[in-house]
Amino acid sequence: MNATTAIGIDIGGTGIKGAVVNVITGELLSDRVKLSTPKGGSPDDIIATTRQLLDTISQGQGSLPIGVCFPAVIKNGRTMSAANISRDWIGLEAEKRFEAAFHQPIHFVNDADAAGHAEAQYGAAKGVRGVVLLTTLGTGIGSALLNDGVLVPNTELGHLEIDGHDAETRASYSAKEKDNLSWEKWAGRLQTYYTTLEKLFSPDLFLVGGGVSKSYQEFLPLLTLQTPIIPAELRNNAGILGAASLAVQTAPPAPRRQDM
Ligand code: BGC
Repeated sequence: MNATTAIGIDIGGTGIKGAVVNVITGELLSDRVKLSTPKGGSPDDIIATTRQLLDTISQGQGSLPIGVCFPAVIKNGRTMSAANISRDWIGLEAEKRFEAAFHQPIHFVNDADAAGHAEAQYGAAKGVRGVVLLTTLGTGIGSALLNDGVLVPNTELGHLEIDGHDAETRASYSAKEKDNLSWEKWAGRLQTYYTTLEKLFSPDLFLVGGGVSKSYQEFLPLLTLQTPIIPAELRNNAGILGAASLAVQTAPPAPRRQDM
């Protein structure tokens, strides 16, 4: 097994993306392939689509470590929540189910945590000391808390209750779309959200990810915060890169010669 190469898979509510990654440099070594998430998002259907994806991207590469990121709290390989995905995943031994299907170790991680780890390894948080808080603004809000580049997993700060609301129902990008908000109106909600995070965590840096972060000029300049706030760098690849990198860091050591 080549410990510099791994496969990252990013499972989301609408798409499942994956690629082979050089985990030292953060380069993609294959095309990034995206398939639609099967309707209903049941574990068996998602495993079937992941199989199709793996067949496409890992041709001839042998068995590489596989990391999977997923929009849920992940505890000891189990998916423990399901905010925007089928409830069948709650409490599921996801890692074990995938390992049984693919006959190899698989590492599961929360999607925003994967993105945060990737930014620390290869992107906007690389070499940044202190507390960095990444939020991804998409269908929901994901969060990753890093201190000196080390991840504290499963912070789920999209579900902070603010003014009686689950924060992601007000401030996610899908809330902007659903409520047909202008950039200015949405920025008002983001102001409330980031001010709350600032009070709670006194971060040194905010990173903003998710698809809308490519339009950061429309809304980040409208925010007034003590903390610098900048777009994340790795865009669509962040989850894939972070999942692949964590799969290698947590892969069991290769057998020693005398054990073989
Ligand atoms: C989920 C998180 C996830 C985020 C972004 C939230 O609704 O609870 O686990 O990281 O969405 O996908």
